[in-house]
Amino acid sequence: LKHLLTVEALNNQEVLGLIRRAQQFKQGVASPKLKRDYYAANLFFENSTRTHKSFDMAERKMGLNVIEFDTSTSSVSKGESLYDTVLTMSAIGVDVCVIRHSEENYYHQLMESKTIRCSLINGGDGSGQHPTQCLLDLMTIYEEFGRFKGLNVAIVGDITHSRVAKSNMQMLKRLGANVFFSGPDEWYDAQYEAFGKFMALDELVPNMDVIMLLRVQHERHDGTELFDKEAYHQAYGLTEERASHMAKHAIIMHPAPVNRDVELADSLVESLSSRIVMQMTNGVFMRMAILEAILEGKA
Ligand code: CP
Repeated sequence: LKHLLTVEALNNQEVLGLIRRAQQFKQGVASPKLKRDYYAANLFFENSTRTHKSFDMAERKMGLNVIEFDTSTSSVSKGESLYDTVLTMSAIGVDVCVIRHSEENYYHQLMESKTIRCSLINGGDGSGQHPTQCLLDLMTIYEEFGRFKGLNVAIVGDITHSRVAKSNMQMLKRLGANVFFSGPDEWYDAQYEAFGKFMALDELVPNMDVIMLLRVQHERHDGTELFDKEAYHQAYGLTEERASHMAKHAIIMHPAPVNRDVELADSLVESLSSRIVMQMTNGVFMRMAILEAILEGKA
């Protein structure tokens, strides 16, 4: 792998290879011995806790040199563009840049450059894609069920604004899972029918193996709508009552940050059925596997 910009660019074998490698890192059996010193820069133009800090953790665990970068103290504050920022990182010898940016497909312009040489990892592009979150989600599901084929997975909530939903619906369908959607009509688009069926949450809950809730992304809404947290929770959220109808083996997922008592009941976030904390833990190991695949050509 030279870059990881979208999940579609990975074939199924590469996805499974990354999951297995991440599992090895998690079990502590693989000790990464890199061929040379590498330098990484995490360029987060949109806020992040999990993606940013778990890349930071993964890079340190891999023994990479991490170049500090903060948009507020860099020349971004003087108006320097993303392109010129990445050009600079490449010029000073950074091997891999992890980038989060609000512009969908921001990486197209970077890929056209003949001068930028460093590898790029997409840490989220607007409402476009979140490939590393998708891979850690797939790892979490695989760890639980040992397969994707035939699993019933519900993706619930603010689908149109969710890059996590876009990446996951594509990969889950390709890997043989049955994808279902639920949530407010206004945050759903007919184009997702290619990946799964839209249904009422109450109909879905008892038959799902995985219920994946999505954060309500107020920052991507136009700000004119009135949002009633309790009304949303009752209509589209995983309430305690709804959760009581889940199959015993079913798991709850959420990419986080979670709006507690909105997408799911506060009491469910750290419940026995929840894998939300495990998703965060797995994120570090999956990102180690991704970095190794990119820097050392292993996948
Ligand atoms: N899941 C996720 O991308 O979280 P952050 O926005 O905190 O990185």
